Amino acid sequence: MRTIRDLAALRARVRDWKGAGEVVGVVPTMGALHPGHLSLVAAAKAACDRVIVTLFVNPKQFNSPDDLAKYPRTEETDAAILAPHGVDVLFAPDAATVYPPGFATKVTVAPLADVLCGAHRPGHFDGVATVVPKLLLMTGADNAFFGEKDWQQLQIVRRLATDLNIPVKIIGCPTIRETDGLAMSSRNARLSKSDRQNAPALHRAMLQAARSIAAGADREATLATARASILKSGFPEIEYLEIRDASNLGTETVPGQPARLFAAAWISGVRLIDNIPVALP
Ligand code: PAJ
Repeated sequence: MRTIRDLAALRARVRDWKGAGEVVGVVPTMGALHPGHLSLVAAAKAACDRVIVTLFVNPKQFNSPDDLAKYPRTEETDAAILAPHGVDVLFAPDAATVYPPGFATKVTVAPLADVLCGAHRPGHFDGVATVVPKLLLMTGADNAFFGEKDWQQLQIVRRLATDLNIPVKIIGCPTIRETDGLAMSSRNARLSKSDRQNAPALHRAMLQAARSIAAGADREATLATARASILKSGFPEIEYLEIRDASNLGTETVPGQPARLFAAAWISGVRLIDNIPVALP
């Protein structure tokens, strides 16, 4: 695996691959890699001849300077983690390559970006929607792999790739969890020991609620019970626990059409998110 920071060098390499008829995959990341990221790399390896992992901690998608400052930066460890996984290039550009002087463009994907996390993290999805097309265009990948863990992000990326005619196939990959059900995230490392033990309660309450609703229980009453149980389990604050249409993220759901239960909650000063499918009777 070679680490490349220079855009011209990356493009030359990709041109060679494509000239040889090879299919190129990209896995965009902000580093601090864990098995969730590696599952995307494995999916890319299985579907593509060449795999690029991008590593860029995108300042535009952090709505708090404190969150940006606290975000782990572990490039050396990340490179070592990727080494045995058959990645061809780690593209780790600096900020001036991604945002050249005078940068003035912003991509907004409304209304997908206005709900759920978007309602609580102003500007976050504009930052994501601005950097992702750039990563897709810089790498020129044929296929791009994103996690269902960030379901709203995945829907926004699908929308912008279609809207901007970016010649890429967006592939969603299942959420990888710890054995106790907690969705893997680089933020989990910031949980205190006792809150790490409490944190799987979020996913447990979600599963239980999805099961009850699928069995015909009243939706709002079930969600209220789930909220109470999450708060009792050590989460001081729930931002949202809501069922929405899986594609347009609207609150209007249609029985038989894919819907999901979405949650965001705080514990140890860390914001955790999760989502699971829910079968509406
Ligand atoms: P990051 O949080 O590093 O995540 C990179 C990719 O890994 C995303 O597609 C995310 O959904 C996926 N991922 C994270 N945890 C996962 C898990 N437990 N199971 C499966 N996939 C998981 O998401 C971003 O970076 C950024 O917003 C980015 C798209 C790179 C744009 O800056």
